[in-house]
Amino acid sequence: MTTNVRFQSGMWRSLGMSVLAAGALMAAGEGTVGTQAAKQATFTKDIAPIFQEKCDECHRQGAMAPMSLESYQSARPWARSIKERVIKRQMPPWHLDKSVGIQKFKNDASLSDEQIAMIVKWVDAGAPQGDPKDMPPPKTWPSDDAWQLAKVFNRPPDMIIKSDEYTMPAVSQDQWWKPVVDLGLQDERWVRAVEMRPGTAAGRKITHHALAHLIQKETDALANDPDDAANDQGGVLMEWAVGKNYDIYSPNTGKVLEPGAKVWWDIHYHAVGEQVTDHVELGVWLYPKDEKPKYRTYLTGFQGTNSGAGSRLDIEPNTIGVSQGFRVLKAPAILGNFQPHMHLRGKAMLLEAILPDGTTQTLSYVDHFNFNWMTNYIYADDAAPVLPKGTIIHVTSWHDNTTANPNNPDPNQWVGWGDRTVDEMAHAWVNVTYISDEDYKEWAAKHQPQRGPRTRAALAPPATPNN
Ligand code: HEC
Repeated sequence: MTTNVRFQSGMWRSLGMSVLAAGALMAAGEGTVGTQAAKQATFTKDIAPIFQEKCDECHRQGAMAPMSLESYQSARPWARSIKERVIKRQMPPWHLDKSVGIQKFKNDASLSDEQIAMIVKWVDAGAPQGDPKDMPPPKTWPSDDAWQLAKVFNRPPDMIIKSDEYTMPAVSQDQWWKPVVDLGLQDERWVRAVEMRPGTAAGRKITHHALAHLIQKETDALANDPDDAANDQGGVLMEWAVGKNYDIYSPNTGKVLEPGAKVWWDIHYHAVGEQVTDHVELGVWLYPKDEKPKYRTYLTGFQGTNSGAGSRLDIEPNTIGVSQGFRVLKAPAILGNFQPHMHLRGKAMLLEAILPDGTTQTLSYVDHFNFNWMTNYIYADDAAPVLPKGTIIHVTSWHDNTTANPNNPDPNQWVGWGDRTVDEMAHAWVNVTYISDEDYKEWAAKHQPQRGPRTRAALAPPATPNN
């Protein structure tokens, strides 16, 4: 019952915000131009530029989304659905609460409040086309077979790692393809940058996201943290989702490949009505053989369950479950990103830092997690949190095991920790770069560490509806 009330107030809050913003825009239009025509939002003039910027990368011919939004004719039938998805901030897939925590990212894909207001205004006016002469020139998209980083490094990748081929039938449940590939490395090598892509244009349509996990013997004490099963194996080398094609590590930092390293792929395919056979490939740019960067970046799974992986996730039928995990940083560290990982019942995840002086910083809060979108929120270099030794990383996760969750296969089931998508998990993938005490002191002398407000998010279940 309480959940329902919250659900609605969450909806109204976001609706109300957009309506207000739309009103403000209309008022501005009246003041300056005053004619009926000037007030009307049209596809060609107002909407096509927004779609080109924020949607068409996925919503175009041959790309992964179900329909193209490039032309008026292809977008018009979807107007109502577009309005709903953008108001709830389900599309573009950026499911972060914009009112708390860090808001500066390298890959922010979200719409501004003004853009949402404009789309709502257009749909409410009957989604008019407008003057075809206003249409912006078509956008050109990078060709599918060029490595984007080849331009940055002036050379093709030093290594190309390919998954085995997979054939996705025309009609199927989503599939997870997990082949293992030996890299054939004799020596330790340091990674400067990685870029991942599906093998073919057809493959782009079926490839939802892909992970390349490293499997290697770790000699490093930080990597061998017994609390972190993932790091024990080398962690994730690269994670790909549409819109995120490559990672260049900060200068003088990188990931390490040990002799004998293997890549274990985890590729999420979904069916698109035609049979497609494809693979995924990962281009790797290395540091020169004799060059070792100062710092190693560790992709770390901060558990949002009560203690390590596999324990004490206990979600009762027809409830919203909450669980939390704590982990102390053993050295000063920079956190590079936040990527919540949960399964079908995943609802929300909050990342906080409890500093040695007892204050709490809210770093990020994904308040409407959607299992279909494992979005990675990559902090801008100057916004990435730098934290002292002894900071406690606190991850709180919520799972919605009620009928309000459209992804829930069975709200009458008890759910525990496990690999299947009908089981649950909760961890935050974070690229952690440990720095020296001297480097931390130097940073702290120049910066006033922010003290994020402690919000209701930290205290109560999320107010927004699932996904
Ligand atoms: C990163 C890729 C991506 C971006 C960017 C993106 N979409 Fe989508 N969109 C998808 C995919 C894939 C689906 C189908 C799966 C889903 O619903 O999550 C989808 C579904 C939709 C749907 C629902 C279609 C249906 O079947 O009812 C709408 C509406 C939509 N998107 C609108 C938009 C709009 C408007 C934008 C830009 C403001 C946008 N999307 C940006 C990939 C994307």
